[in-house]
Amino acid sequence: MKKIHVGLKKRGYDVVIGNGVVASMGRFLKKAGCEGSAIIITNPAIKRYWGIKVASVLKKSGIEASFLEIPDTEKSKSIATSLKLLNRLTLKAKSKKIFIVALGGGVVGDVAGFVASIYKRGVPYIQVPTTLLAQVDSAIGGKVAIDLKAGKNLAGAFYQPRLVLSDTAFLSTLPKRQILNGLSEIIKSAVIKDPALFKFIENNLKRILRLDKAATARIISRTSAIKARLVEKDEYDRLGIRIALNYGHTIGHAIEAASGFSKKYMHGEAISVGMTAANFIAVKLGLLSKAISRRITRLLENAGLPTKARGIDPKKVYAAHLHDKKFIGAKNRFVLISGIGRVTIEERIPAKLIKEAIAAVCAS
Ligand SMILES: NC(=O)c1ccc[n+]([C@@H]2O[C@H](COP(=O)([O-])OP(=O)(O)OC[C@H]3O[C@@H](n4cnc5c(N)ncnc54)[C@H](O)[C@@H]3O)[C@@H](O)[C@H]2O)c1
Ligand SMILES: [Zn+2]
Repeated sequence: MKKIHVGLKKRGYDVVIGNGVVASMGRFLKKAGCEGSAIIITNPAIKRYWGIKVASVLKKSGIEASFLEIPDTEKSKSIATSLKLLNRLTLKAKSKKIFIVALGGGVVGDVAGFVASIYKRGVPYIQVPTTLLAQVDSAIGGKVAIDLKAGKNLAGAFYQPRLVLSDTAFLSTLPKRQILNGLSEIIKSAVIKDPALFKFIENNLKRILRLDKAATARIISRTSAIKARLVEKDEYDRLGIRIALNYGHTIGHAIEAASGFSKKYMHGEAISVGMTAANFIAVKLGLLSKAISRRITRLLENAGLPTKARGIDPKKVYAAHLHDKKFIGAKNRFVLISGIGRVTIEERIPAKLIKEAIAAVCAS
């Protein structure tokens, strides 16, 4: 078992990672100061796989637990679902002390965290992430949000959980494509911050892909620590420190948008292509060597991630990338790398070069 502390003083918390850590939930909850009844927010699929186990662990620890379910779709990150949850919470909680358990992937985590942040002006909640992406990314850092018509994550808050419990056993029921979705973010973190992790993934890819316990726990721990350190330095994402996590995301998001956020490109897949495009730009600007760019592309491809977005209109990708939230007016901003572990923020990249990079990754 590995424990990473997110050092945010009063709002600090532990991220506990390992195979079977959920069995010790009662002990961690006590330490985290979560008291009263647990309301587990989850979706029907996750409840079927893991809900009963989590509820029984809680009951064994003397904690009363009940479920609130949301549909298994990104559409659940909505004001309508939040309102339903808030009303059902009121009925369940009555005058009892409660805390919320977000049991699921990023969708459950984001909406459950959002509801926890506003119910009675904030009740304690913990993240129990069940996807690889949620374990290394969305469960850590306190960004909770719902989507609006105009775009994703447009209404939300910074509201830190009291505890994150990342049980690697959950990954055993996760479809392969979802594993790769998370692995893409792990490779991203390694590229921006951790050459040793990058090398470890290169040398242990087969073990990682078959979810070897030790290898999986190691990459989750390292990536969680990278996120924790960035969050500590820039809790409210105002100092431009968390921006490094956006490597690969400018063109990546644009690919997701150009494909209409369909199932064609999952987030991690689009980011894999986005990293390749960012490296193309960095090489052309003379910041990055071709050899390192190739090494990253090779790792992504060996993992089974796409480095090209076939069948996507480059013009649509170009138009979509202009909405990147990092851009300031007409001035664009890209997170690039000059080596593994070396991030550089570059502004005013010529449109011609961006178009070239997009054409290179969209070519069939
Ligand atoms: N808050 C943040 O900082 C942050 C960061 C990154 C992403 N996000 C958000 O996270 C969301 C994506 O999260 P995600 O990739 O985890 O997707 P998800 O929550 O939709 O989960 C993916 C799928 O896997 C299923 N699933 C989850 N755990 C499972 C398990 N153990 N076994 C079998 N199936 C399981 C889910 O039911 C779902 O169908 C997006 O809404 C994104 O905006 C938030
Ligand atoms: Zn991402």
